[in-house]
Amino acid sequence: MIKACLFDLDGVIVNTSQYHYLAWKRLAEELGFDFKPQDNERLKGVSRIKSLELLLEIGGMKNKFDNEQKQAMAETKNKWYLEYVNSLTPDDVLPGVIPFLRELRNNRIGIALGSASKNTALILDRLGIPKLFDCIIDGNQAAKAKPDPEIFILAAEKLNVPAAGCVVFEDAEAGIEAAVRAGMKSIGIGNPAILHKASAVINNLEGFTLKKLNALVPL
Ligand code: BG6
Ligand code: MG
Repeated sequence: MIKACLFDLDGVIVNTSQYHYLAWKRLAEELGFDFKPQDNERLKGVSRIKSLELLLEIGGMKNKFDNEQKQAMAETKNKWYLEYVNSLTPDDVLPGVIPFLRELRNNRIGIALGSASKNTALILDRLGIPKLFDCIIDGNQAAKAKPDPEIFILAAEKLNVPAAGCVVFEDAEAGIEAAVRAGMKSIGIGNPAILHKASAVINNLEGFTLKKLNALVPL
């Protein structure tokens, strides 16, 4: 039986993944190279500093900067990213998310948010939905970023649910890999070719129900 659902934030609850992309693209342009949407798939789900390292590798600048310079670049990117985040409102919660979370709560299924983002609390506040989650694990609490399973393992522990009773909802390849390593089933949201390790893949949560979840992932 499904005992808990663990949700990623960016790209699952809200479309902030496009804002991460735009902010990284702006940094890439300042550094003198183009950052294409298909290259962005590698950055999804991974921590801010690891994302920067991947971006520099994509731009052929892997060993060009020291840690202090990288820290400054990551802060600049975050400043640009927050300009987008500050415009978020409750209308930006993705379609289907709130009805599905309410259905889970009505059926006493644990609900966790597990994100690498250090901006998680701010984003949930802007969307007005922190209370819809029983537990929130973010990039400030977890030392290891996805694809390491730490975020999801911590969330399951906090909910007091075994990994085998958890289903992870993820839009990132690294996030699905984290679910697999945690010993959890997963629902990929997005492209089945990229999320091929997920237990099942759907387009989005619009119209998604517990009945559909049980049919896709019988536990
Ligand atoms: C993940 C995103 O949720 O959080 C990544 O998918 C992002 O793209 C990571 O790099 C860290 O986010 P933040 O908000 O701490 O820079
Ligand atoms: Mg995501």
